[in-house]
Amino acid sequence: MYTPAFPALCQPLRLRGITLSNRMAAAPMGYPELTAEGLLTQDAIAFYELRAKGGAALITVGEAVVHYATGRSHGRSINLSHPDVLAGLTQLARAIRRHGAAASIELAHGGKFSAVDSLPGERRRDAVKYGPVDEVMPDGSRVLAMPKEMIREIVASYGKAAALVKRAGFDMLLVHGGHGWLLEQFYSPATNTRRDEYGGSRENRARLMLEVLDAIRASVGPDFPIELRISAEESFPGGYDLREAIELAKLVEDKIDLLHVSAGSNEDSFYETHPSMYMERGCNVHFASEIKKHIRTPVATIGALNEPEMLEEIVESGKADVVTMGRALLADPELPRKVIQNRTDEILRCMRCFTCLAERMQTQTRICALNPLIGREFESMFDRPPTAKKKVLVAGGGVGGMEAAITAALRGHEVLLCEKSGELGGAILGDKYIPFKRDAWAAARTLARRMELAGVEVRLNTEVTPQFVRAWEPDCLIVAVGGSPIVPFTGPNVYLASELKGQLPGKRIAVLGGGLVGCETAVHLAMQGGEVTVVELAEDVARDANPRQRPALLKELERTKVRCGLRGLRAAPEGLVCADAEGREELIEADAIVLAVGQRPNRAAADALRNTAPEVRLLGDCVKASTLREAIFQGYHAGLDV
Ligand SMILES: Cc1cc2nc3c(=O)[nH]c(=O)nc-3n(C[C@H](O)[C@H](O)[C@H](O)COP(=O)(O)O)c2cc1C
Repeated sequence: MYTPAFPALCQPLRLRGITLSNRMAAAPMGYPELTAEGLLTQDAIAFYELRAKGGAALITVGEAVVHYATGRSHGRSINLSHPDVLAGLTQLARAIRRHGAAASIELAHGGKFSAVDSLPGERRRDAVKYGPVDEVMPDGSRVLAMPKEMIREIVASYGKAAALVKRAGFDMLLVHGGHGWLLEQFYSPATNTRRDEYGGSRENRARLMLEVLDAIRASVGPDFPIELRISAEESFPGGYDLREAIELAKLVEDKIDLLHVSAGSNEDSFYETHPSMYMERGCNVHFASEIKKHIRTPVATIGALNEPEMLEEIVESGKADVVTMGRALLADPELPRKVIQNRTDEILRCMRCFTCLAERMQTQTRICALNPLIGREFESMFDRPPTAKKKVLVAGGGVGGMEAAITAALRGHEVLLCEKSGELGGAILGDKYIPFKRDAWAAARTLARRMELAGVEVRLNTEVTPQFVRAWEPDCLIVAVGGSPIVPFTGPNVYLASELKGQLPGKRIAVLGGGLVGCETAVHLAMQGGEVTVVELAEDVARDANPRQRPALLKELERTKVRCGLRGLRAAPEGLVCADAEGREELIEADAIVLAVGQRPNRAAADALRNTAPEVRLLGDCVKASTLREAIFQGYHAGLDV
């Protein structure tokens, strides 16, 4: 008989006229692929629909801008001022609701952070923006103090937008009052120094938010729940703190039905609004639980949540009533369903690598490193089943090979995966010993479990040779035999990053190679008390980290010394001998040298397997040193193509 393993998460929650079927909610996450006018696309609708299919009780559509002329906070946001937005909104609400989830949508206005163009570095400096006060932004663009007539227009636009989304069929809405957007800009004493009734005292600073909530309530009537997102603290110099947030919560509580407690501000605390992998899981829960002590309204918590046991504990202990997740539901949209069905070993946990956010900056698309379905949710509805069942042999049990095997097996093929070593996981196995990378390592376990469920036969300690292929006679061979670490020199005090297994190899350590792997290894060694020097040939380190991840990594790297422009020559008993561009030698004193200078594709092994089966596909590190994301993506598509 079925008994929920996470009973607190499975409880319903009544919010005015609606009942959420469980306590897990999907956070607002904007989808960048909208039309140029900010209208919804089939791709955007499918993106949110996937989350609804995954079992979260409440799906919140990301930023929908109430006053597009002044409030557009991203290059592309949903344009609630557009006369033709209603049809798309209606399709979107239907797509969410038909899976049993409640459909919500975030009403937003970017205030002084509005009027941006899509690509970073290409902000429109000429566009006039409105915030609480006159200001010149760091990029030189001008912000004007919002005149009172405009405040009235903005308040009215929230009311109008609320009526519109209700008409479109949404069950509730969320007002974005946090993260440094317009309403927080007014509430923050750091950014609002107005002298009229919208500035000064706490009540005055909260006035805009209160008027907005009143305008919305007047529009939507008594049964329609309103959720309000706030930041519990702003985390920049002069920004408000938790005490101020508690006072805000008390002021708004009678006007809302769910208080959503996030943290940080777009002003200068991106990693509070989007906790990096270096922060603890559930790092904002204490904010929600503190605020909850002061109000009667239910409270939602958010930030770096992905672990079912922790989610359960939060709700069970009463720290929050709802657990909301953003990135975790990109990595695995089905997390809530798996929690409800006691299938938590199948959950792929978000590793907070920031691929999702970086990709928006870099390509205006949305993807996830662990989940290749993200960004092709709509397209995937047209995947055709294979015309015949095939025998598929996968050589290599790294993440790319496993993903290929799962995808091919789920398409109905007979799949055998062989791994030369005794363990599945390949290049990410070393992440097991780095606490901030453990979610990446855990992906290997989850993929192994998914292979089992998909019916993939796995043989460990089995190398795929041409003879093996000929004997097994696959219709399709997928070669994912990985790479091997580059070893420029050896010595008694020289170690590979991948073989450290969490041990400090000495007190003073030189890490040779300042790419992502070298930097992460260095940070980890420094966290354990090592005195670490990173030595890099290029002029800068972590150049292969994505633009959202890199600043967080560089901050952590302050625990180490970084030396650029040096080539590591050889190991000496006293440390690492390097040379600069002019060939001058220098000794970096160290007890141990850790090598992290990259991977060389296992090309010979891969090449030997070409033309051994009617269809051969090479992927991942054996073709070119690649990231986890590239390996998974390539594996998925290789599996889909069979
Ligand atoms: C890809 C992505 C898009 C986001 N878009 C929005 C958005 O449109 N509106 C918003 O208020 N927050 C947005 N956020 C922030 C999330 O709602 C959430 O607060 C943040 O990601 C922290 O939660 P998490 O650790 O569960 O991801 C976005 C986050 C991500 C990762």
